[in-house]
Amino acid sequence: MTKGLSISAAEGKVGILLVGLGAVSTTTIAGVMAIRKGLAKPIGALTQMGTVRLGKRTEGRAPAIKDFVPLPGLDNLVFGGWDIFEDNCYEAARTAGVLDTATLDQIKDELSAVVPMPAVFDRQYVKRLDGPNLKKGRNKKDLAEQLVDDMRRFKSAHQLDRLVMVWCGSTEIFMQPTAAHQSMAAFEKALEASDPSIPSSMIYAYAAIREGIPYANAAPNLSADIPALLELAQDSGSPVAGKDLKTGQTLMKTMIAPGLKARLLGVQGWYSTNILGNRDGEVLDDPESFKTKEESKKSVLDYILQPSLYPDLYSDIHHVVRINYYPPRGDNKEGWDNIDLVGWLGYPMQLKINFLCRDSILAAPIVLDVALFLDLAKRAGLSGIQEWLSFYFKSPMHAPELYPEHDLFIQLMKLKNTLRYMRGEELITHLGREYYD
Ligand SMILES: NC(=O)c1ccc[n+]([C@@H]2O[C@H](COP(=O)([O-])OP(=O)(O)OC[C@H]3O[C@@H](n4cnc5c(N)ncnc54)[C@H](O)[C@@H]3O)[C@@H](O)[C@H]2O)c1
Repeated sequence: MTKGLSISAAEGKVGILLVGLGAVSTTTIAGVMAIRKGLAKPIGALTQMGTVRLGKRTEGRAPAIKDFVPLPGLDNLVFGGWDIFEDNCYEAARTAGVLDTATLDQIKDELSAVVPMPAVFDRQYVKRLDGPNLKKGRNKKDLAEQLVDDMRRFKSAHQLDRLVMVWCGSTEIFMQPTAAHQSMAAFEKALEASDPSIPSSMIYAYAAIREGIPYANAAPNLSADIPALLELAQDSGSPVAGKDLKTGQTLMKTMIAPGLKARLLGVQGWYSTNILGNRDGEVLDDPESFKTKEESKKSVLDYILQPSLYPDLYSDIHHVVRINYYPPRGDNKEGWDNIDLVGWLGYPMQLKINFLCRDSILAAPIVLDVALFLDLAKRAGLSGIQEWLSFYFKSPMHAPELYPEHDLFIQLMKLKNTLRYMRGEELITHLGREYYD
């Protein structure tokens, strides 16, 4: 057994600052408040309901994750955030229409007390949105300084010990790394010059990371995933995770595809389409925002199926992903997948998946887990990309020389082994020879 990491206690209160108080954020915040009151259960959250097996299968040790690693209790979380709309969290949750009014009314007072701070926002990066609750600044650097002030003020007003920031704002247009993103010096110069290659999400990420605050990105836009901000994260000791929460169709894809590959069943085509009627769907109706999402969703199969290792099975897949904005469904997304499979001797088969899911109901426990695990990472002295949190993301951040791991089951093993490693417990390899030798 190793020593494990030295992890400071999860004492005091933690502020969870969410950028964007839309469907995902309000479902997370209202959910935690409802759970605190005993009105509901934290279904889907590993930090609340998960267990981790320790030692040999014969030992019968499987503590709750929250007893195994020090995590803040839900009573010690304080929520805040920014939005381009002025609605408080109760009003925003009503607009999002995910949770029923009866539930929201039972937590109305605490929910209404979460009022968004004015946002850093530029329509150039999210074409389908506009709102009144905005900051004004001389340049992007000045806007970042205003965000830093917001965070410091929030921390002292609520007497918090630590903060975590999660970008739950809208998906920004597709952007690729530029020279301004390559080093901190170039990035800070570009902030001063209000360079167009710095979208709003990067300004938030910069502000959080510079303060040493853990930062996660629930959306697919680049945000912190650039060399400059990763360099800053190493220097400031800020752990970082992203991108794009793995919910709905992609969650299913990363469960099914590893199974097909495990049995060496070929795939000729995978057609995924879905209808979605919330504001996220409306933003994604813009081709430039959709492109960011599409890139995030499409890479998954290539990495899981490894066509270069299995050319006969996966080298010629027609992978199509569509998102259709369809207002009557609101947040209740419906996804269809048609998978054209090939079996023994090339005989074709089909698999159809019809997932009637609730987007934000799947996303909220992930936001909670990611925030609590990032707070843990910070207390354990980990900084930069937290690959063990890949489990939660469609486009997991990874070191430049690596390919990302998308297989949900490998991701879970990595996550739990990281927890064991932190606590100095034996890693589980599943070899199991010792039971028979
Ligand atoms: N729901 C899911 O299952 C899921 C899964 C993966 C990723 N995501 C991503 O999470 C993000 C949030 O999803 P949602 O369903 O809550 O969307 P939403 O449209 O309901 O909420 C986004 C909120 O962000 C605000 N916003 C946009 N830009 C902002 C800025 N610069 N500063 C402050 N606020 C800003 C908007 O006003 C809006 O209230 C989206 O990018 C979405 O693609 C969601």
